[in-house]
Amino acid sequence: MLTDKRAALSEQGSALAQLRQLARACHACALAATRTTVVVDDGDPNAQLMLIGEAPGREEDLLARPFVGRSGKLITRLVEEETGLSREDYYIANVVKCHPPANRNPTRDEIARCRHLLLGQIELVHPMIIVTLGNVASQTLLGRREGIGELRGGRYLLGDARVVPTYHPAAALRGGARVTEAIREDLQICAQLLRSGNAR
Ligand code: URA
Repeated sequence: MLTDKRAALSEQGSALAQLRQLARACHACALAATRTTVVVDDGDPNAQLMLIGEAPGREEDLLARPFVGRSGKLITRLVEEETGLSREDYYIANVVKCHPPANRNPTRDEIARCRHLLLGQIELVHPMIIVTLGNVASQTLLGRREGIGELRGGRYLLGDARVVPTYHPAAALRGGARVTEAIREDLQICAQLLRSGNAR
């Protein structure tokens, strides 16, 4: 039994390593020409909680790690305060793995060309809860067109994972206490689900 689990973990580890290699060699869209690094993931690939952002910002591009800039620091703190989990306890990825110049939104084409990497990550990590941060991540994962203000609060499943859409932390940095409070409420739902051990 233990050896089965070890074998599964090592298979997952090598599949993720392959996915990272694939991502780092990717030239499928124009972002490859302007990126410094490819920002694939961070955190624990065996976690029950996965956070998905939009695309790496400038600092992430320089450091090759997702969510290390101002937005990242805010969401890291909010997750810690509401769930007790620190960054190493959950898995973090973005819809698009390369920094869009001037922090513009990724285009539909860029999102589509990166999609297999995100879906691969979700399949390999197989989280119980996926928090999608902001419009791009929430719309991409849920296949919906509504904005995050409308999507928030709905009950969504992707396979057997529960998807919890919330505001992007950059919106909280711009929008202040009301947005921050909404993110906290959504993270409290995640904390409850994690405690119950049941995503449904
Ligand atoms: N914003 C994102 O959506 N992802 C990051 O990694 C950083 C900022």
